[in-house]
Amino acid sequence: FALLINPQANGAYFKDTLLVASAEFQAVFGEQTLEHRVIGNLQFLVASLDESLLTQVLRLSFVLGVFEIDGDQFIPIDVASKYNLHEDFVFGSKYRGKTNEHLTQLLLNVGLSYLPKGTEQPTLLDPMCGRGTTMLWAMRYGLSAKGIEQDVKAIEDLRQGLKKWTKLHRQRHKMMEGFIGKANKKGLGKFLEFTVEEQNFRIINGDSREAATLIKSEKFDLIISDLPYGVQHFTTDKTRNPISVLAECIADWKKLLKKDGVIVLAFNSYIPKRTDLIECFENNGLIAQSFTAPHRMSESIVRDIIVFKHA
Ligand SMILES: C[S@@+](CC[C@H](N)C(=O)[O-])C[C@H]1O[C@@H](n2cnc3c(N)ncnc32)[C@H](O)[C@@H]1O
Repeated sequence: FALLINPQANGAYFKDTLLVASAEFQAVFGEQTLEHRVIGNLQFLVASLDESLLTQVLRLSFVLGVFEIDGDQFIPIDVASKYNLHEDFVFGSKYRGKTNEHLTQLLLNVGLSYLPKGTEQPTLLDPMCGRGTTMLWAMRYGLSAKGIEQDVKAIEDLRQGLKKWTKLHRQRHKMMEGFIGKANKKGLGKFLEFTVEEQNFRIINGDSREAATLIKSEKFDLIISDLPYGVQHFTTDKTRNPISVLAECIADWKKLLKKDGVIVLAFNSYIPKRTDLIECFENNGLIAQSFTAPHRMSESIVRDIIVFKHA
């Protein structure tokens, strides 16, 4: 089968699209040699696959469509991606600092691929969730999610975005606000919970270093986050290197991770370096897995992805 590469993936992975696409494919479907084919403006990855996997292939972050190869003919296959909720639930809002939607889907796919087979209804936490791209994707996958974000404005922005979205799509839903602990003017511990159909998410305003205090009595299969990049986003202690904050977060993240759970992080590999990140997590009993997908975004950012599991 030839997997048509979505041109939008170039906006996420730039000139490294093929490398990232291959890494994602192999994480989900196992190692195999993938061939790159170009027809006019269309780019494809050619893979050997069982037909029963085609709907799953369409969930790869870079795939726009699938073609069967018959001699020199490419025959489009009539399969469509299956997600909950409308596409613009994830893609609709644009704001400064939003994590690319395709990259976010890749993080989720890679996380799911590392979970034990047959894990039912995995739960997800994004401990530095911004305005929620990871949680919104989780909901499109039919999963429930929680997020923690230090920026008090995030909750209000998310609330406004969801209000518009539910109105536009006449979507039945429930929205609830409250506080973890005592209500306060600073908004610490404030949360917004959004439920639609079977799934929901909750975003909590607070510091990820206190994640296990903000979220008690729940453990997650997946902890997925796009870390602050240092250049664009400052961390809570206003340093450019997120490693010092991360070092203080790990103990709580570890407490919140189930025994077979998986942590997937996107980070700017200039700061912190991959080796520093690994050392920091391994000092806390979390072991780095082999997945890597570095892609150059700009002079100052080469984004990479790293996966950790309990030792
Ligand atoms: C790269 S952004 C995530 C963007 C998000 N994925 C989205 O699409 O909206 C990283 C986020 O981490 C948050 N952050 C940094 N340090 C934090 C901390 N200690 N606790 C909670 N959030 C933190 C920043 O405020 C920023 O919103």
